[in-house]
Amino acid sequence: MATIFDSEFVAVTTEVIRRIAGPLPFSIFIRRGENTYTKLFPKGEEVEAVRFASYETGKGVEDFFVHQDDYRQYLLYVEQVAHALFQQKSAAGEQVVAVIKEMTNLTMLDLVVKKHVDGKSIGYAMTTIKGCIDVLANDPKSLFRVFRLLSRHPYLIKHALMTSVFALLLAKAENLESEKTLTTLGLGALLHDIGMSMMTFDPEERAELAGEERREIQTHPELAKRMLDSVKSVNPEVRMIVLQHHEQPNGRGYPNGLHDKQIYYLAKIVAIADCFSALLCVRPFRDEAFTPVKAIEVMVEDRGKFDLSLLDKFSKIFVTTKAS
Ligand SMILES: [Fe+2]
Ligand SMILES: [Fe+2]
Repeated sequence: MATIFDSEFVAVTTEVIRRIAGPLPFSIFIRRGENTYTKLFPKGEEVEAVRFASYETGKGVEDFFVHQDDYRQYLLYVEQVAHALFQQKSAAGEQVVAVIKEMTNLTMLDLVVKKHVDGKSIGYAMTTIKGCIDVLANDPKSLFRVFRLLSRHPYLIKHALMTSVFALLLAKAENLESEKTLTTLGLGALLHDIGMSMMTFDPEERAELAGEERREIQTHPELAKRMLDSVKSVNPEVRMIVLQHHEQPNGRGYPNGLHDKQIYYLAKIVAIADCFSALLCVRPFRDEAFTPVKAIEVMVEDRGKFDLSLLDKFSKIFVTTKAS
């Protein structure tokens, strides 16, 4: 855990604390001095709104903390809050942003703790992803719409965040450094599957797809591109990533059956990150979540689907990560 946290206590967002109803699943602390923290609300008790407000507005306390042993518990609570928040039409942009950023922290923690991905590299990817969320936040209506759509199923948000992490790790291995390129890539990865929210059935409930359902799923890249045409903060390169993330160099992808050189470079990166992050999760058609090394093996067996040089670089990230 030391790779993730710099101190024993982790700052949490008031947007979440304010929404806790019932007994607290974790204790909440405030900072008194450099390394001194005092428990404000103990686990099992309720947050008294008046007392909380007296600290927040009355005493001007800006930061609240949980102990790192309780951090995962807190982040799981964030997921519940997020789900409720995205259903509310009146939710403010900054609340949505705060909660989504906390969800990126949950993704990071899970990848480091459960999948043993290197914490330092993930921290770097997370900074870019939070920057991407800020780009969307410049256009709060779109941000809200995007995340409400993704929250149709918890898997979609988790998958969007994980895909962005892996796309950015591959970008680093490719020595891509321009902030503009990284933001385009991060946004493309975050948004790549928003078309899935428009399906007339819930693909997360299907272990097997009927032919018609499969055809419907294949419309999700074009649907997503059209959904994003009206979003100002999203540039044409992001839309291109979204449209092409299921194209394959062997020409067997969709929607346009493009061949190798016709596929946009950043879409090829997202295609690898997308497949890898799906393999790391349990899916309706597969009970087993693969380890990173096993996921790479599966992808190498199916290598015609991916850009070979990118796949090679991507696999090296995880071989090294495992050894370190
Ligand atoms: Fe997709
Ligand atoms: Fe995907």
